[in-house]
Amino acid sequence: MGYVGLPLALLFSEQKFRVTGFDVDTRKVEALNSGRSYIVRILPEDIQKARQAGFRATSDYAEIEQMDAVIICVPTPLDQYHQPDLSYIEQTAQAIAPHVHPGQLIVLESTTYPGTTEEILVPILEKGNPAGLRVIRKEGDAGFHVAFSPEREDPGNETVSRHDIPKVIGGIEPAATAMASALYGSIFKRTVPVSTPATAEMTKLLENIYRCVNIALVNELKQLCQRMNIDIFEVIDAAKTKPFGYQAFYPGPGLGGHCIPIDPFYLSWKAKQFDFRTRFIELAGEVNSNMPYYVIEKTAEALNKHKKCLNGSKVLVLGVAYKRDIDDLRESPSLTVIELLRKSGAEVSYNDPYFPTVGHGRHYDLNMTNTPLEEIGKFDAVVIVTDHTSYDYPRIVKEAKIVVDTRNATKGIAASNIVHC
Ligand SMILES: NC(=O)c1ccc[n+]([C@@H]2O[C@H](COP(=O)([O-])OP(=O)(O)OC[C@H]3O[C@@H](n4cnc5c(N)ncnc54)[C@H](O)[C@@H]3O)[C@@H](O)[C@H]2O)c1
Repeated sequence: MGYVGLPLALLFSEQKFRVTGFDVDTRKVEALNSGRSYIVRILPEDIQKARQAGFRATSDYAEIEQMDAVIICVPTPLDQYHQPDLSYIEQTAQAIAPHVHPGQLIVLESTTYPGTTEEILVPILEKGNPAGLRVIRKEGDAGFHVAFSPEREDPGNETVSRHDIPKVIGGIEPAATAMASALYGSIFKRTVPVSTPATAEMTKLLENIYRCVNIALVNELKQLCQRMNIDIFEVIDAAKTKPFGYQAFYPGPGLGGHCIPIDPFYLSWKAKQFDFRTRFIELAGEVNSNMPYYVIEKTAEALNKHKKCLNGSKVLVLGVAYKRDIDDLRESPSLTVIELLRKSGAEVSYNDPYFPTVGHGRHYDLNMTNTPLEEIGKFDAVVIVTDHTSYDYPRIVKEAKIVVDTRNATKGIAASNIVHC
C-alpha cells in the first residue's frame, strides 16, 4: 500500500472490484481503514469512497487465500554496496506462499532485473506451498498463474492519466498473460502483452535507463555550456522544436526518487552474471551522482564572489523532495546537497511545503525542521534544489542575497544575484 500499490488499489476499487490492501506497516493499514491518506496526492475522500465500495486494508496474510489475484508492489532498493536488495520481494513471497490456491493469479509489479519472477518469486511460492502447488507452465497444468507487469507511473505528472499508460504484461505462459491482461484491461485502456516475464522486466529497465543516460548527457553538457557561457536551457528549448529524433531531458542537481537512480544498477549487477559490463549505466551513474558536488562547487564560487566562504555561511536549501510538487524524499539530491554543505561547515536550513521535518538524510540523521520563507533575507545563499510550483520565485530572488538555481526555476527573471548551476 505504498506509492504504487495504493493508487492501483483505488483504480480497481473504482471499477467495482472487491479490493483488499495488504501491508506489513500497521500504521498504513489503520490509516486506510479509518479513511485517512498518507500520500499527499491521494485525497482522504478517495479512500473513503473506496471504503464505501468495500475496500479495506489488512496485515493478515491468511486472507490471501480468498483473493483471485494478488499484485505485489513492494520496494526494490539497493543495499549499501549498491547491489539489488530483493528481501522485500522474498519476504512477501514467503508470506503469500502458504495461502496460494489453484487458479490464483500472482503478479509482480516491483521494478527489478530480468529473471526475478522466474528465479526468485516462483521458487519461493512453490517451495512454501504446503499443498505442493506449482506454477502453471503449460496448458493443462494444475496450479497457479504468475506474471510480471511493471508499474510505469510518473509521480506528479498531471498530463497523463493512469488509465492512459499502456500496461506491459509478461506471463510465465500465455494463459497467465491473458488472465493478467483481462484484469488490468479493466482499468488500463491498453495492455501490451510480451512473451515472458523477463521481457517485461527488461522493458521497464530499458525505459528508466534511457531516462538516466539522457539526463546524464544533459548534465554533462550543462557543465560544458556553463564554461562556454551558453544557456543549456535555451539550447534544449531550441532543440526540442525538432519534430523528430529528439526528446528533451533537463539537467538538474542530481537524480532522485525510488526509480531512476536505482533501477539501472539492478541491470548492471545482473549483467555481471553474463560477463557483461553495462558501460552506459556506469558512466551515467558517475555523471549524475557527481551533480550534487557540482552544486556545492557553484555555491562556494558564488559566495566567494561576495568574499565569503562556505564554512560559517548560512545556506537555505529550497525544496527537499526529489522532484517538484511531490511529497517523496527518497534518494533526493537535496539530502546529499545538505550533507555536503554541512561537511563544508555551512549552517544549513531548508524549506519545503511538503516536509515540516526531515529526519534521516543519505548517511545520517539530519533532524531538521522547515524554515519559513519569511526568513530568506537572513541567509548568505539560497540554493534552489527542487522547483516546487508554489514558490514565488520573483520574491525569493528579490529577498535573497544569492540564489543558486539548479533547475532554471528563475527563468525570465533578470537579477545579478542569480547563479545558474
Ligand atoms: N513510486 C513510484 O513512482 C514507482 C514507479 C514505478 C515503479 N515503482 C516500483 O514499484 C515498487 C514499489 O514502490 P513504491 O514507491 O510503491 O514503494 P513504497 O515504499 O511506497 O511502498 C511499498 C509498500 O510495501 C510495503 N511492504 C514492504 N514489505 C511488505 C511485505 N512483506 N508485505 C506487504 N507489504 C510490504 C511497505 O510497508 C510499503 O507500504 C518498487 O519496486 C518501485 O521501484 C515505483
